[in-house]
Amino acid sequence: MKICVLPGDGIGPEIVAEAVRVLKALDLGIEMEEALLGGCAVDATGDPYPAATQKLALAADAVLLGAVGGPQWDNNPREQRPERGLLGIRKQLGLFANLRPAILYPELANASTLKPEVVAGLDILIVRELTGDIYFGQPRGIEVRNGERFGFNTMHYTESEIRRILRVAFEAARKRRRKLCSVDKMNVLECTQLWRDIAIETANEYPDVELSHMLVDNAAMQLVKNPKQFDVMVTGNMFGDILSDEASMLTGSIGMLPSASLDASNKGLYEPSHGSAPDIAGKGVANPLATILSAAMMLRYTFANEAAARRIEDAVKKVLAQGFRTGDIYEPGMKKVGTREMGDAVLAAL
Ligand code: IPM
Ligand code: MG
Repeated sequence: MKICVLPGDGIGPEIVAEAVRVLKALDLGIEMEEALLGGCAVDATGDPYPAATQKLALAADAVLLGAVGGPQWDNNPREQRPERGLLGIRKQLGLFANLRPAILYPELANASTLKPEVVAGLDILIVRELTGDIYFGQPRGIEVRNGERFGFNTMHYTESEIRRILRVAFEAARKRRRKLCSVDKMNVLECTQLWRDIAIETANEYPDVELSHMLVDNAAMQLVKNPKQFDVMVTGNMFGDILSDEASMLTGSIGMLPSASLDASNKGLYEPSHGSAPDIAGKGVANPLATILSAAMMLRYTFANEAAARRIEDAVKKVLAQGFRTGDIYEPGMKKVGTREMGDAVLAAL
């Protein structure tokens, strides 16, 4: 078991350090090697996904990532932006299946901006296609045409790209409440008409899962109106980017949500759903739980070690029940702790 650890930018190094401590404490014999991705890699090498990192990531069974990005790189040319590193590693490793759970922990019910009765017990899984769509489509660019600037991108999906992500979503639904909602914009976009057609075809392989379809605008509305109607949602790269941020905020605590990006053989990249939070970087106050829970997802999906994954998840539930809270999920009466102390609490609970 070999993992490539990419702390990244902003709060990344702080939160990844805690997840690494948790993995080491489990004593599973996992080998870890660190490398640079994102803005820190641009600063050190001029490349957000340098060759040395590529070599380690390709050789590893899994990648643990903190977060990338920060305002200091926002004006860099596109190929020297941290996000380019993230898109590059997703594409190179073929990580087409992005699993983003949005779970409301009962102890954190007040953290949501929605009424408790709307979100209590919320447990949604968003399955986002991650290596296709308008994110990677060619042609793309900004050019001068007919004397004015012209910006363009291309949305496209092949039949096989759609089918493989739908299968991942159907399989995930099978292990949950057997409901799958496929999200598209077939009333306007042909590309997503194909998506819907393939979803209907693929459903024949999964008669035990109830498939429904929803237009993306309505899905955005239904997520805030009645989120508990959803079990698993599956959608393309761009819609999934937007809906997964929305779903995560239903829980009020994006600092709690892990994610997995998998290839066809369950090699994966695991990262918190939140960003690099440059405003609190280096202060030791960031919530490490999403990264620690991402390490649990790694043990579950890449290393097929359900028991170890559960141990981490149970330890996290325990520290919440004990009242430990970082600033993002703090409520009066609870024990306010920093990043390191939260890691200590999880280690003690393990
Ligand atoms: C995400 C992020 C990335 C994306 C950015 C940082 C490129 O928003 O993982 O959701 O759009 O995929
Ligand atoms: Mg996003």
